[in-house]
Amino acid sequence: MEIVIFPDAAAASRFAADVVEDLLRRRPTAVLGLATGSTPEPLYAELIRRHREDGLRFAGARTFNLDEYVGLPVDHPESYHAYMRRRLFDHVDLDPANVHIPDGLAADPAAECEAYEDAIQDAGGLDLQVLGIGSDGHIGFNEPSSSLGSRTRIKTLTPETVADNARFFDSPDEVPRHVLTMGVGTILEAREVILLAFGAGKAPAVRRAVEGPLTASCPASALQLHPRARVILDEGAAGELERAGYYRWVFENKPEWQRP
Ligand code: PGA
Repeated sequence: MEIVIFPDAAAASRFAADVVEDLLRRRPTAVLGLATGSTPEPLYAELIRRHREDGLRFAGARTFNLDEYVGLPVDHPESYHAYMRRRLFDHVDLDPANVHIPDGLAADPAAECEAYEDAIQDAGGLDLQVLGIGSDGHIGFNEPSSSLGSRTRIKTLTPETVADNARFFDSPDEVPRHVLTMGVGTILEAREVILLAFGAGKAPAVRRAVEGPLTASCPASALQLHPRARVILDEGAAGELERAGYYRWVFENKPEWQRP
């Protein structure tokens, strides 16, 4: 993995935007895997700015979101459908026909998950997957003990994730207990992955993902198997890494042709 450490989330998000922009300029029909949560908000804000000011186009791109809550109507403000419209889709030139998010209201969730996997395959696979990380080490909603070969399916959230996400709802009781999420195996098949983490609260999970053993107890550690995974951090999230100095040295000495 490449570990890239920035002074703050704003600088880290600009670098993540460089990765997305670089892909879209090379491949306007790129297939993007997108994430929700508070972490990618500054990335999406920067992409919107580049769309408006620098002519960054999304018109040919296809998108697949990682996950969705089960049981929330798409117009519920905390559904990931609503989040994506608010944070990105309503502000760029993406074709709504090219946008995919699991349907958390599907009558047959297993069939919905299978169709979602098929749609990713039909699009040619994910070119770039954007990820956050949960304080329990999840990616997407692949909670600890998720099979590292898992595919899109229904999952039950851990109490830790319910508590983490309660800030978006009026009370913890309102946080849905179930989600549809791409699997770890689905994520690992993306041709390129960027994982973003900001703040000291994420530092223990980042340490386990990057420097801990490969284990289903920390699903993000599966990225150690990925040939093109970048972990993009601010100082806080990097605060518990033993080899932070080495990661900085590698990045500073990177040849220009390998950037971003
Ligand atoms: P957050 O969530 O960005 O809201 O911290 C990240 C995640 O749960 O993957």
